Amino acid sequence: MSANGGQDLFAAAAQALRHAYAPYSKYKVGAALRLSDGQVFSGCNVENAAYMHGFEALESAIGAMIAGSGWVARGKTPEIVEVFHCFETIDPRYGYLPGPLGVGLLRIFGAPDTQLHFATEREGVFDSVVSEALLARLSHSHFDKDQYLDYARERRRRALSGVVPPIFRDSPFEKLFQARLDSFCPVSLYAVGGMVETTCGKFFYGGNCEPGYAKCLHAESIAIASMISMLGPAARIRRISVLTEGTPGIPCGGCRQHINEFATKDTLVAGYNTAGDVYEDLQVNLLPHSFGNADLESARIVRESGR
Ligand code: THU
Ligand code: ZN
Repeated sequence: MSANGGQDLFAAAAQALRHAYAPYSKYKVGAALRLSDGQVFSGCNVENAAYMHGFEALESAIGAMIAGSGWVARGKTPEIVEVFHCFETIDPRYGYLPGPLGVGLLRIFGAPDTQLHFATEREGVFDSVVSEALLARLSHSHFDKDQYLDYARERRRRALSGVVPPIFRDSPFEKLFQARLDSFCPVSLYAVGGMVETTCGKFFYGGNCEPGYAKCLHAESIAIASMISMLGPAARIRRISVLTEGTPGIPCGGCRQHINEFATKDTLVAGYNTAGDVYEDLQVNLLPHSFGNADLESARIVRESGR
């Protein structure tokens, strides 16, 4: 730990924790990091309903570091020497180690001996580890897979029932129903099935898959990934369907972006629920003013003409 015992970092992480936006997990986290030049940055977890683009606290703190450390003007890539994570309590199901994006960023901006401390607001530090040892901790032997899968099976019983309603007894919709049954959603209990029909008349399926409250795989995006994996990048979507319970499935913003990449002006998006309610609209109506490769290309032209 640093000279002052990391008290300032603990305080910064605890302060960030109080700002956390974690309505889904109810698991607030704050992180603070110190750079080799002494600067401190902090961040909290920021979730969203799609369980896909949420930030963990360490990711927020590293984002703040990149934006605020003035590293380019200093002519030195920021170097993280110490990190504090602060929690209210520890939920044994989710543990407290950073996820893969945080770890990836630590490999770039940290060192093998970067110190990581884990603390609760009340009890203070309960674990400390250096970055290199953290990577080893993330290995299989520290994860009780059987216990986790028991828990996931129990959750699945609450999320899904396997009776196929009459409206889904017709292929290809029976397979869409099955794709939803095959989803892995112990976190949200929100089971989603996705189905792509290509312009060449082929069908691909997906179900959502959840590692936690961030970076989940979405049903319709997985169906698109299968389409591309099997047919190559020229494949195009004629119609994409999303099946959920409650309000008929609607693709989140991230999935709309995935759809856009392989859409035509006629691509249709359809939402179903298990009661058989349906809506349908054009993808261009779901994602107007979209960001795409044309934007990247226009920047490339400016870049290559000027310099
Ligand atoms: N989900 C999808 O699979 N597709 C969407 O576009 C909306 C959200 C999943 C992700 C997560 O597993 C759960 O539904 C809650 O967001
Ligand atoms: Zn999505």
